[in-house]
Amino acid sequence: QRKAQELIRPQLPPELSRRDGRCPFDPAAALTELSGQGRVHRFEQADGDVVWLVTGHEEARAVLAEPRMSADRMNSPRARRVISPELHAEMFPPERRAGSFIFMDAPEHTRIRKMLTGQFTVRRMRDLTPRVHEIVTSHLDAMVEKGPPADLVRDFALPVPSLVICELLGVDYGDRDEFQERTAKLLSLDATIDEQIKNATGLRVFMHSLVRSKQAAQGDDLLSGLVRDTDLSTDELVGVANLLLIAGHETTANMLALGTFALLEHPGQFAKLRDEPELIDNAVEELLRYLSIVSMGVARHAKEDVEIGGVTIRAGETVVVSVPAVNRDPGQYEDPHALLVDRPRGHHVAFGHGIHQCLGQQLARVEMTVGFTELLRRLPSLRLAVPVDEVPLRTDMSIYGVHRLPVTW
Ligand code: HEM
Repeated sequence: QRKAQELIRPQLPPELSRRDGRCPFDPAAALTELSGQGRVHRFEQADGDVVWLVTGHEEARAVLAEPRMSADRMNSPRARRVISPELHAEMFPPERRAGSFIFMDAPEHTRIRKMLTGQFTVRRMRDLTPRVHEIVTSHLDAMVEKGPPADLVRDFALPVPSLVICELLGVDYGDRDEFQERTAKLLSLDATIDEQIKNATGLRVFMHSLVRSKQAAQGDDLLSGLVRDTDLSTDELVGVANLLLIAGHETTANMLALGTFALLEHPGQFAKLRDEPELIDNAVEELLRYLSIVSMGVARHAKEDVEIGGVTIRAGETVVVSVPAVNRDPGQYEDPHALLVDRPRGHHVAFGHGIHQCLGQQLARVEMTVGFTELLRRLPSLRLAVPVDEVPLRTDMSIYGVHRLPVTW
């Protein structure tokens, strides 16, 4: 059984991924070494296809701001060749593509994104802060009441963003078993094609009935707002809601868990942030940069010849922007491999750049700001409950994180 991600993702040498067991937060040694040798790197695959890996900051922003670079996976000749039309129809039926604007180019992307930006403004997200605070506090209360040890992923990092995105969208959190596992499987690097299709279909069926219920009776949640105020079709509403649900909890959950792990492994930085909580805004940006959880990078496909960083990317070739390498570009950051919670805020690409730059970034920032601040305030003596090398790293997903984080206090 072939793995779905092997078909969809451009294949780069495996040693460039993070799985080399060094410091759990650092990019793979081979990737760091490569980025020291240049900023745009060419890889020829066994079948003759060319994939470029971008490790330079300026070059990454140029790729992500370039309209001739497509986010549509089917613009990759490899995907067109490897995925037969029959398999493609099964993996990406039109109703599954509808609304999934992360894989669309302008003007389709613009049309859908415009309908959502009003819902994700800095102000709207700040207005959510008191509720995020309540959710964070109630989970910490429950952890404290139960007493140590706790699994920070199960008890805090996953449920907090999961509940927040459910409330925002208008999904019943009681249904979390329906979507948490399916979402994780959809992001899994190990899922087979059959598993992918099964999970994508299951999630769509779940979301379809939710959209139908909002069409029948609207509330004041985001999905009801989209039903009421936009001309999105039912399939598009399902696609948009699925994308928000998938993107909205696993990412932030992994940032909260891995971020806490990184702070625990840097006791001086943990103490600094605990004692100077006003550093939180810098600390959140620094953790985003340092951890770069979108560790497999962000891929684009050249629709025409494009020059980037002095090299010509030919039409049909694929470019992967390595978020971890770019966020540690020594030309951009002094001492890039150090975690410094008071580092001045720079222009990291943890949320991407250009038209696809993360729609949920303000929400993620609010969750991390409140989450880390309260965690350190309530549990100032927080520490790992197991030896470091027993923390199970999550390298089986396109987003980097930890499966469990056993902690005590
Ligand atoms: C896009 C990272 C949280 C919704 C992206 C992209 C990145 C990213 C790198 C760009 C992908 C590309 O260019 O192809 C992250 C990280 C997060 C996070 C690191 C947590 C810390 C969230 C949350 C939501 C969300 C909480 C939803 C509420 C989206 C959506 C897009 C996106 C809808 C697609 C935007 C578009 O194509 O126009 N995210 N994200 N993300 N993210 Fe996030």
